[in-house]
Amino acid sequence: MFWRFSTEPGLIGLDWGGFKDHQTTVRRYAEDGFLGSDKGRLIVQDGHEATGFVSWGEGSFDGKTKYWEVGIALLPEYRGRGIGWRAQRMLVDYLFEHTPVHRIQAATHPENQAEQRSLEKAGFQLEGVIRGAEFRAGEYRDGWPYSRLRTDPVR
Ligand SMILES: CC(C)(COP(=O)(O)OP(=O)(O)OC[C@H]1O[C@@H](n2cnc3c(N)ncnc32)[C@H](O)[C@@H]1OP(=O)(O)O)[C@@H](O)C(=O)NCCC(=O)NCCS
Repeated sequence: MFWRFSTEPGLIGLDWGGFKDHQTTVRRYAEDGFLGSDKGRLIVQDGHEATGFVSWGEGSFDGKTKYWEVGIALLPEYRGRGIGWRAQRMLVDYLFEHTPVHRIQAATHPENQAEQRSLEKAGFQLEGVIRGAEFRAGEYRDGWPYSRLRTDPVR
């Protein structure tokens, strides 16, 4: 799964960042199974089928208060079936339950309506626009930052 997402252009959409050393995936798995204290990944399963993965990594604005930045990628055949928003909600519940962070954030693109809606359904709120945030697919692109705080009411 991880290998495919790092070697197949187009599989992940706008988040494809070009070819990188795919042995990194193998080394990281051998090192800690993608479950370190500063970042991690889990496979998203639907029954017995592996449908994609979720990820998280730490960040901090003040150097002492940690937040998680989360991400997700499903294989194309499993998209649009209600898996993505549920997986992100489950990931956030898991991280709030097992780590003391107050804030979990995620970012997507203006074009990615599926992820925008999924984040909203997982209890995230849009915080604004990060203009010219990153260079993807040949141009500088805006980022849409979302967050969910531990104290946010979630329907
Ligand atoms: C983004 C992604 C995780 C969303 O997961 P998903 O399982 O496809 O989405 P869901 O089926 O859970 O749908 C969640 C909501 O988004 C809507 N949605 C799904 N696909 C959509 C699309 N292509 N366009 C617009 N809305 C869409 C659904 O209708 C649903 O909203 P609703 O309940 O109000 O009807 C998944 O499509 C994916 O992995 N895409 C490629 C990788 C990616 O973009 N990752 C995020 C990078 S920031």
